[in-house]
Amino acid sequence: MKNVLITGAAGFLGSHLCDKFIEEGFKVIGMDNLITGDLKNIEHLMKLENFEFYHHDVSKFVHVPDDLDYILHFASPASPIDYLKIPIQTLKVGSLGTHNLLGLAKAKGARLLIASTSEVYGDPLVHPQTEDYYGNVNTIGPRGVYDEAKRFQESITMAYHRFHGLETRIVRIFNTYGPRMRLNDGRVIPAFIGQALRGEDLTVFGDGSQTRSFCYVDDQVEGIYRLLMSDYAEPINIGNPYEISILDFAKEIIKLTGTDQKLIFKPLPKDDPMQRQPDISKAKSILSWEPKVEREEGMKLTYQYFKSLSKEELRRSEHKDFTDRNKR
Ligand SMILES: NC(=O)c1ccc[n+]([C@@H]2O[C@H](COP(=O)([O-])OP(=O)(O)OC[C@H]3O[C@@H](n4cnc5c(N)ncnc54)[C@H](O)[C@@H]3O)[C@@H](O)[C@H]2O)c1
Repeated sequence: MKNVLITGAAGFLGSHLCDKFIEEGFKVIGMDNLITGDLKNIEHLMKLENFEFYHHDVSKFVHVPDDLDYILHFASPASPIDYLKIPIQTLKVGSLGTHNLLGLAKAKGARLLIASTSEVYGDPLVHPQTEDYYGNVNTIGPRGVYDEAKRFQESITMAYHRFHGLETRIVRIFNTYGPRMRLNDGRVIPAFIGQALRGEDLTVFGDGSQTRSFCYVDDQVEGIYRLLMSDYAEPINIGNPYEISILDFAKEIIKLTGTDQKLIFKPLPKDDPMQRQPDISKAKSILSWEPKVEREEGMKLTYQYFKSLSKEELRRSEHKDFTDRNKR
């Protein structure tokens, strides 16, 4: 049995990756400090013999007694609301955390895959974004803490690959959605669904002409798995290239949820990208991967998940507060 360490295991993507590797017959070691994640996302795995969980902050030294074949580094606040609340931890987990995991991978002879992001392209001047586009990032803007942490993460990973010959993989993840997202994480899909469930008007920032493209989580996980198993060390975009304007998307949510609320418009937040769309030619040719789940189907499954949450879970999901840990 092969062993895989997954950091950020109690988060949205990390928990789905744990499921995937369990399904594929791995022993999965999950690690998380629960700053934005929730143990509920992996409680169904806790009783399994081939699953183990460590409550640990990966920005501190990481020790795992087992042999490791693979490491997937997914620990990081991931939504603007999160990383604006905890900017220092965000910078630390992308830099110190990645350094710790690179060291662990080197010591164990493991292959390391890091979760990068479309945010490395900043507010892009090139559409759709190909992997060779260097990006347009405001280093000192509020979102810089996330974007630059991820850009540093890519640099140090390539340095370990080139200098130490470490086997590394870099996935640039574009907007992904599905069950286990948090209602209050500020990302557009849970924000709209949360407002619809609470009977509030849906907030559109700007005039809603900015576009996004959304990838269903099962497609994302399959792309990540294929990349890990490939022999390709440079970054690869994984996302859904199908673009939709936020305004049209808000209308789709109104239809899906049957809410009779209206749309309200607020000013665009600073450095909010106007357009995001992955060029996935590399993923298609190198990994034979492309997304399969239609938005209508993925959104139905996601809405079912949010509707199935108990009142207590909805409340918890809305009010997760980590501001007390903000200063560290
Ligand atoms: N979801 C997306 O659309 C998306 C897009 C681009 C990139 N990503 C990347 O994928 C990864 C996972 O994102 P997500 O959407 O699942 O977010 P998430 O917030 O649901 O999960 C992140 C997990 O990391 C944990 N974590 C944070 N800092 C930690 C630390 N120092 N030590 C240990 N655990 C820590 C959190 O508690 C949480 O469980 C992140 O690296 C994110 O940057 C996600």
